[in-house]
Amino acid sequence: MSERIALPGPGHSPMTASESRQYWETRHARAGALASGGHISHDESTNAMFYAVRIARLIEAIGPRTNPGLPLRILDAGCGKGHFSRALASFGHLVDGIDTSVTAIASCEAQASERETYAVSSLSQWGPPYLYDAAVSIDVLYHLMDDDEWATAVRNLASLVRLGGILGLVDHDRDEDRVWQSHQKTRSTRRYRELFEACGFEARRYVRNDFKHDPSGMHIAVRVA
Ligand SMILES: C[S@@+](CC[C@H](N)C(=O)[O-])C[C@H]1O[C@@H](n2cnc3c(N)ncnc32)[C@H](O)[C@@H]1O
Repeated sequence: MSERIALPGPGHSPMTASESRQYWETRHARAGALASGGHISHDESTNAMFYAVRIARLIEAIGPRTNPGLPLRILDAGCGKGHFSRALASFGHLVDGIDTSVTAIASCEAQASERETYAVSSLSQWGPPYLYDAAVSIDVLYHLMDDDEWATAVRNLASLVRLGGILGLVDHDRDEDRVWQSHQKTRSTRRYRELFEACGFEARRYVRNDFKHDPSGMHIAVRVA
């Protein structure tokens, strides 16, 4: 889990989609550059290490390939202030970053290179006229409290990945669903695998963040149909 913040614990009513948007707008406007999308209780230096470790995990997930003549097209779904998008672009990839936070996307656009494109969009509604070599969503899906919204988001991201492409979704690797706070609900690995299979993907592995006591990691699946 990427953050612990002073919000109501399990048992409190889950945030609605509009409460969640307001929460992220406020957090992106007020928290530090890294804490706003990273771990809210880490200082900026610890968050810098946390991002560095996860960027290495991302290379592991997507692979160390890069080709200036034929760059990979990658979606960073729920990109926040764009730390992963910029890293991926610096590896030579073409990156689309989407997020529902206007504040976060404005920050991304202010720092964007020519290989990055950003848009305000939800995971469920993004529909570009091309497919991606890889779509990743880092620390976003467990903030979707509504199960239908979560499943619709996973299905939409899956539909945007080409045959042979990679889908990388961050959540826990657990046997059961669990509500942690009013804005955090993790889903079981079985539910991810069922959706992967239904969308023509094969689950390949789980890459744990392995930073301090963070239990999160990336479910990695490849499109086979
Ligand atoms: C914990 S932050 C992670 C940001 C970024 N992936 C990172 O790790 O730096 C969660 C992000 O998800 C975004 N978000 C929440 N619900 C979303 C949705 N339905 N569609 C797109 N973005 C969403 C929030 O605005 C926020 O920027």
